[in-house]
Amino acid sequence: METNRPLFIPVILGTPRKGRLSEHVARFVVQEVGKRDGVETELIDIRDLPLRMDEGEDIKDPQFSATMMRADALIIVAPEYNHGIPGLLKHVLDTNLKEYIHKAVGICGVSAGPFGGTRVVQNMLPIMRELGLVTIFWDGNFSNVQNVFDASGQLLEQAYVRRLDKFLKELIWMAKVLRYGRENVTLE
Ligand SMILES: Cc1cc2nc3c(=O)[nH]c(=O)nc-3n(C[C@H](O)[C@H](O)[C@H](O)COP(=O)(O)O)c2cc1C
Repeated sequence: METNRPLFIPVILGTPRKGRLSEHVARFVVQEVGKRDGVETELIDIRDLPLRMDEGEDIKDPQFSATMMRADALIIVAPEYNHGIPGLLKHVLDTNLKEYIHKAVGICGVSAGPFGGTRVVQNMLPIMRELGLVTIFWDGNFSNVQNVFDASGQLLEQAYVRRLDKFLKELIWMAKVLRYGRENVTLE
């Protein structure tokens, strides 16, 4: 049973760093997702979330929680910081749990070096699993990101449109399958 309801796939910009180049990546991804028929998206900037110095679900932001609840899939744009996940991104993700379960996630790694955030992506996979998210087998890998966009955020390397297209096709397929499962298949 197919449903015609649009999928909702928000994009999380996973660093609050001043001067972050991941913002160009996140805006590009939002623009590309927005071109898809039957998919709605929005940018979630973790810098804008009101979080106090505590951990976990006790500091859940109601609006972020509602957005995660509505989401069918997530795209996380994650720069690689010392081969790992940016601290504030982990802090934000840890504030929710049931909201993520049986939903798809795709990760776009970002780095100034040649590896395109592969190490942050690898390091995030067990975290995604523990949150109940279902990872896809494509990633975004934005290597040498300082050369991929100009200073205003315009894409300079058009190959990323094609690469992101493959990633999005897979993510949308997984999002549809999982939505069908959440709505039609009981957990026995
Ligand atoms: C705290 C910190 C740690 C970093 N560690 C790495 C790293 O392990 N590997 C890497 O390729 N780049 C690393 N970088 C550089 C980022 O790849 C670079 O800043 C890039 O532009 C993406 O991050 P941004 O969105 O903060 O700009 C690091 C940057 C910061 C601020």
